[in-house]
Amino acid sequence: MSSTAHDLTLPDDSLAQVLEALAADVARSAGRLVVDERPDAVEVASTKSSATDVVTVMDQRSQDHLLARLRESRPDDAVLGEESGGATGTSGITWVIDPIDGTVNYLYGIPAYAVSVAAVVGDPTTHGAWRPFAGAVYNPVTDELYRARAGAGSRVVRPGGEERSLTPTGCSDVGQALVATGFGYAAERRERQAHLLLDLLPQVRDIRRIGSAALDLCAVGAGLVDAYYETGLNPWDLAAGWLVAAEAGAVVGGLDGPGQDLTSACAPGLAPAFPDLVEEGTRRHLRG
Ligand code: IPD
Ligand code: CA
Repeated sequence: MSSTAHDLTLPDDSLAQVLEALAADVARSAGRLVVDERPDAVEVASTKSSATDVVTVMDQRSQDHLLARLRESRPDDAVLGEESGGATGTSGITWVIDPIDGTVNYLYGIPAYAVSVAAVVGDPTTHGAWRPFAGAVYNPVTDELYRARAGAGSRVVRPGGEERSLTPTGCSDVGQALVATGFGYAAERRERQAHLLLDLLPQVRDIRRIGSAALDLCAVGAGLVDAYYETGLNPWDLAAGWLVAAEAGAVVGGLDGPGQDLTSACAPGLAPAFPDLVEEGTRRHLRG
């Protein structure tokens, strides 16, 4: 594979296969660490963008674990993670990792958090200049592992090793759609997100706020919800879930593609209406 800054040429499938297996393996081992060593009282180590945007000791430990494992197997790849520490590389491949997606659920002991690991090409810090090609999202409480690679579909591996390919729902009516979403940590953004939600709520079946963007995207792929949208996501929240949803057959988009402005995913039958609805709402409430 050549590797200019924004070269989105994918590696060949034999390498992608190896990297998908590595993503699955490291996501699983970090997930075991996070759940097996979760203290009864999880302590907040620090806060980031607001007083409710917390980092626990285990967020950092999980990231350190992922970084060490990835550096060991793939020393020439870069790593971009949510917490402090990362790595530069020369291979043109970057691992985009979220050591605990759903940190607030982790803090409270709500069983909806995950480790998200994706191998991407391009520059994951620039909107529209990158794409994931192999990845895994692991929920260590339910022991469910979602995995995918470009062109090969996506699967969930359940406890005991049972593996199933993912398929979105057959929903084609926005009025019948169960829609997952999430909110950021900054008060000003949350207020704008509430206005968008206010427009949307009367037009859909109902809303789910599960608390992990990575699991939300996998849920669209798995047909557990009909659609998902969120504004303000970072690359680590969405990289692996984007791939899992898209490879399952969901339609994944945003404003000029998935990213910070908007990330949406929906069952194919909702593609004529849902993306336009959330794009229009985002332009009205979140931009400007
Ligand atoms: C958050 C979760 C949440 C989403 C937020 C994310 P974190 O990630 O994915 O569901 O609504 O936008 O920041 O902080 O738990 O890693
Ligand atoms: Ca996250």
